[in-house]
Amino acid sequence: MSATKGKAPLLQNVQARVSASLHGKWQFIIDPLEHGYRDYRGAQQQEEGYFNDRRPTSRTERLEYDFDAAETLDVPGDWNSQRSDLLWYEGAIWYRRRFDADLGAHQRLFLHFAAVNYQARVFLNGQELGLHVGGFTPFQFEVTSLVHATDNSVVVLVDNRRRTEGVPALGTDWWNFGGLTREVLLLGTPGTFIRDYSLQLDDQGNLAGFVQLDGSQLQQRIRVTIAEAQLELVTHTDQQGLAHIELPGTVKRWSPSCPKLYDVVFQCETDKIRDHIGFRRVDTSGHQVLLNGEPIFLRGISLHEQAPFHPARAHSVDDARTLLGWAMELGANCVRLAHYPHNENIVRLADALGLLVWAEVPVYWTLQWQNPDTLANATTQLTELVTRDKNRAAVVIWSVGNETPISESRNHFMRALVDTVRQLDPSRLVSAALEANYADATTLRISDPLGAELDVIGCNEYLGWYDGLPDKADSIHWRCDYEKPVFVSEFGADALQGRHGDPLTRWTEEYQVNVYQHQLAMLERVPFLCGMSPWILADFRSPRRPLPGVLDYYNRKGLISDRGVKKQAFHLLRAHYTNGADATDTKRRTLPSWDNWLAVDRATLVFVFRGENVLLIRKLRGLGAGKVNGPGGRIEPGETAIACAKREVQEELCVTPQNLEQRGELRFQFVDGYSIHGFVFVADDCIGEPTATEEAEPLWTHRAALPFDQMWADDRLWLPHLVAAKRFRGRFLFAGDFMLEHEVLLEDSIGS
Ligand code: GCU
Repeated sequence: MSATKGKAPLLQNVQARVSASLHGKWQFIIDPLEHGYRDYRGAQQQEEGYFNDRRPTSRTERLEYDFDAAETLDVPGDWNSQRSDLLWYEGAIWYRRRFDADLGAHQRLFLHFAAVNYQARVFLNGQELGLHVGGFTPFQFEVTSLVHATDNSVVVLVDNRRRTEGVPALGTDWWNFGGLTREVLLLGTPGTFIRDYSLQLDDQGNLAGFVQLDGSQLQQRIRVTIAEAQLELVTHTDQQGLAHIELPGTVKRWSPSCPKLYDVVFQCETDKIRDHIGFRRVDTSGHQVLLNGEPIFLRGISLHEQAPFHPARAHSVDDARTLLGWAMELGANCVRLAHYPHNENIVRLADALGLLVWAEVPVYWTLQWQNPDTLANATTQLTELVTRDKNRAAVVIWSVGNETPISESRNHFMRALVDTVRQLDPSRLVSAALEANYADATTLRISDPLGAELDVIGCNEYLGWYDGLPDKADSIHWRCDYEKPVFVSEFGADALQGRHGDPLTRWTEEYQVNVYQHQLAMLERVPFLCGMSPWILADFRSPRRPLPGVLDYYNRKGLISDRGVKKQAFHLLRAHYTNGADATDTKRRTLPSWDNWLAVDRATLVFVFRGENVLLIRKLRGLGAGKVNGPGGRIEPGETAIACAKREVQEELCVTPQNLEQRGELRFQFVDGYSIHGFVFVADDCIGEPTATEEAEPLWTHRAALPFDQMWADDRLWLPHLVAAKRFRGRFLFAGDFMLEHEVLLEDSIGS
């Protein structure tokens, strides 16, 4: 139970756990020689170690560091984009943050890092917790017995140096952004809690998976509930705390045109966790990829995890919304997240938007194939990726690498990764980005022996850019040694946005268009093609690209510039991808109109004020379960909005609102087709004392302290108007929990 040295087994779905964010300003110390950790003999520091986070206790004491006086870096965030003197820095930097553990009563506490590039040595209150290697996957340490109520010191020695034995190794074509690049949280759990679970459709069409407990009470009753589908299973865990789940029943299948996510509740006697999960099958048949048994062509685009408009590591929901919004605009139904696991916000948004995902580990170019530590490192990164994203319907392909050179030791290494991922998750397709060779002057042949191990053959080719001029593609025939679907995972050309010339002048938008025109025509002639993900959505920083005035350390194969400006080729690919895309698809992906718009459901929300307080609820079930909101619900047929408002408050909290008055009107469109027309009421008091029910828990809250981070994303846009007694109307486009677009207008009078 107590804190043990070394990482805890990965916790599933930390976003659903009670947590305290450790975001914000962290003090830092640049330490290229790691002097804070090793003395001049290379031995580990003791007293003088920076991890002690000490301050001098007397005028005689000699301490050569002081975090209190140190400058700060923002977390989450890479250090390179925050300070010009760290733009190129590759080395060690100490981070320090002090925090109080005010998480309320939790029996166990974990420190969670969503990703730290590349190596993280973590200390709490001077004690070393352990080391994590790999820049793109989550890890946690249990700190239950180490945390104080107040003034804790967490210190992280981050080192982003590239290493020959590393994964990736020395060479990459992306910027080596270092730092605490994603979220850092203090998580609270019960003594025995649901550490891991999975639920997906098996090949019989039943929901199957598992629940794994962690703690002292491993044998418990488990309940898995999907209320909307009226599905429930009660079972028990074995002595190891594991329960297998078989849940026969019918669910709506997840797909790009209907990215249906269900609210799934996993419960044991001591814990409860909910997740939004979509259910779908993905298989191959001959040269085709099948989604829910139907052939699907993967209209993809590759992207790096670089923030839009700003050369930094992306991490936020806003970054994800912009990047995937561009992919949707392109008419894509698939994204290749290159070349490493991207943050969870992107993957969860893809789930909600209906974008299929190719996920990859940074087994990139040449690694130390014979080094068992390198294989163990790659295997750990793959395992952490699969563990984190296995419940995301959007993820359909696990890629074990990119452009790795054929050799016996490499083949052995890659086969081991394929075996690992098949054991971890037999429900998805396995791939890798391979390269083709010329069988003769006009025949490109895919014959890489690794192809035999894969479900989908990925292939990178640069006809017209690294290989000849654009029209070379016209004479090329493709051959593949495997009766499998082939996905062209990369093709493209560099163009500086705004640079124009004739179609054969390199670096111009016209040359890029020229390459795309010949590529798309060639790919139409490839009979075993199941899709493509051109390189790349947006220009990105690369240390390999100096050309002054053109590249300036950017790879400019983006269809969108680093300033977010679309290049001509973006529109060409969009036209190619959207021919035939059905209108309804786009209609469901726009803000609901103010005029002719009919919602699937009509509903009410009520805010009862009593002095400075307003009566909120924590919703316990149905849409928005787990969130804080105003009491309310669906208007029954023949029921008026005001009658419904009263009834719902009575049902959810056993009180009767007084002097109900309509104050707002809200329109919600979800990309999976669902929609709600909401009517917002205020009341100046209620009769009775609010009581918890199966539906909701009452939360009297000060009107100036509304917990927006626990509410729907739109609430912070109109609730302040409601509190200020203003009338308003709003319209919103949502993908699952993600608000994609919104508009709120203040009104003189509504409902009259
Ligand atoms: C390679 C590689 C990419 C790189 C691209 C390029 O194929 O996979 O990471 O950025 O080509 O050269 O632009």
